Amino acid sequence: MRFTATLLACSALFAQLGHAHDLRDQQARQKRHHDAASAAKIEKRYPPGRETFIPTTTPAYALSISSATPPATKTSSTSSGSQTTPPPGQYTTGTTRAHVAATTTTPTTCAPPYIATSMITGTGTLPKPTTFVTKVYRSNQLTLNGSPFTIVGPNIFWLCQGQDYGPLGSYTDKSMVREALAIAVAMGANTIRALSCGISTGTYNNLNPYNLEPTFNNFNSAAWDIRDYVLYAAREYGLRVILTLTDNYAYYHGGKYDFLNWRKASLANNGADFYTNRAVMSAYNTYITNFITHVNSYTGVAYYNDPTIIAWETGNELGGYINAEVWPPYSWTKFIVQTIRKYDTKHLIIDGTNGFWNYTTGATSAGLTLSGVDIVTDHSYPRNTGIINKEFSLAKPALKNFLIGEFDWTTTYSSTDLATYLNLIESWKPLVGEYVPASLIDILCVGMRIGRVVEGLGGDLRAWEADQANILLLAQHWYRMTNRTPPVALVGVACPQPVF
Ligand SMILES: *[C@@H]1O[C@H](CO)[C@@H](O)[C@H](O)[C@H]1NC(C)=O
Repeated sequence: MRFTATLLACSALFAQLGHAHDLRDQQARQKRHHDAASAAKIEKRYPPGRETFIPTTTPAYALSISSATPPATKTSSTSSGSQTTPPPGQYTTGTTRAHVAATTTTPTTCAPPYIATSMITGTGTLPKPTTFVTKVYRSNQLTLNGSPFTIVGPNIFWLCQGQDYGPLGSYTDKSMVREALAIAVAMGANTIRALSCGISTGTYNNLNPYNLEPTFNNFNSAAWDIRDYVLYAAREYGLRVILTLTDNYAYYHGGKYDFLNWRKASLANNGADFYTNRAVMSAYNTYITNFITHVNSYTGVAYYNDPTIIAWETGNELGGYINAEVWPPYSWTKFIVQTIRKYDTKHLIIDGTNGFWNYTTGATSAGLTLSGVDIVTDHSYPRNTGIINKEFSLAKPALKNFLIGEFDWTTTYSSTDLATYLNLIESWKPLVGEYVPASLIDILCVGMRIGRVVEGLGGDLRAWEADQANILLLAQHWYRMTNRTPPVALVGVACPQPVF
């Protein structure tokens, strides 16, 4: 018997095909540009596009809501040549995106069909998180119940609050949540990273009333439900969740500029006061404390005590695109670690910088030497084996786990092919069932956001068709990273998923 299953979410998720056209043209232009520049030994990273970027300040790459045009070309000349940043292809042009009303997915609207030879049933077979993933410092090894644990999975940035369906920033339809988690399981993930679940501050210039802390020290009790549900549902699917607590930028779900604005701090130098202004630091402390002490209404478990959460991340891409800003100083990261540790002694802490090696100067981030940091991280846009090789060699002796928190899994921007990149990461993984030498780090790899597949950057349907081979490569890689036999074809999921 052959199952017709839908790997992807339903047709409501495939709006904006007109944008897809634009995007592909832009991507093609970007690729040509990139190919020309790729001779550089160390390529620059590009900003990931969460499409509409509304600044509350004026960083160089900022867009404004009324004139969401590609940012002005900026060139930097370094020893590795000059490049244009950021790429226009990663932004949506035009004033706004049309927001389609949220719908509950039904089988009749499922498209495109994916003919799967096997599919997961129910919530899959991953064990439900009941104990914490911890780090063994001597071996720099993450373990679960005494066995090595390697983080693999997708980013699903819209999992709690979205920008494409329903009013901007509104809570994600729970059927979409379940479907996304099912897809993650089918692809071999054991963990997801979900930016809009952890980052939820401000009002986005009064355009988004849904965030968790819309104004200073006022928490929106309605905003907890989706977070509680995502953690509850993730537990049901056997997935763990990385929660990132703020963003370096100013997208609809907010970020560091909200804390600066609330405390009327300077926005100069890409918001550098975020790391030194006492009132701003205290405001972030309040957000974190409220967040990690919240009690889940579905499970009754306080967040600080929930093994479904695998780690807190101090921010997303602090230090900025292509490391153009400054990393948080030692004093700030130490303060954030202490803030978390006041209530939470159990979760891992990720120093949420955009890389930790400055490929221009050779400088390293403070988090690399701070004892409270368990994991250091980087995002690969484009994929670049030179940078992660160097970072691996720095993280290992520093006894930090290395999380590749995002990377470009498409063929669009990178000269290093996906298989080469994934093979390099695999060459660093620990061997389960064998003694792991004290010097061997386990590499953590969370894939490029699945939003690219099921929602998102306008590429939607076409990106999926074009990228099927890459999605399979990625799924097989995640299975191998976790010492399971990889599937020969993509595994399907039922659409819609069972309701619970
Ligand atoms: C990396 O070095 C460049 C050149 O000195 C500097 O402009 C940039 O701010 C640095 N990045 C970080 C994150 O420190």
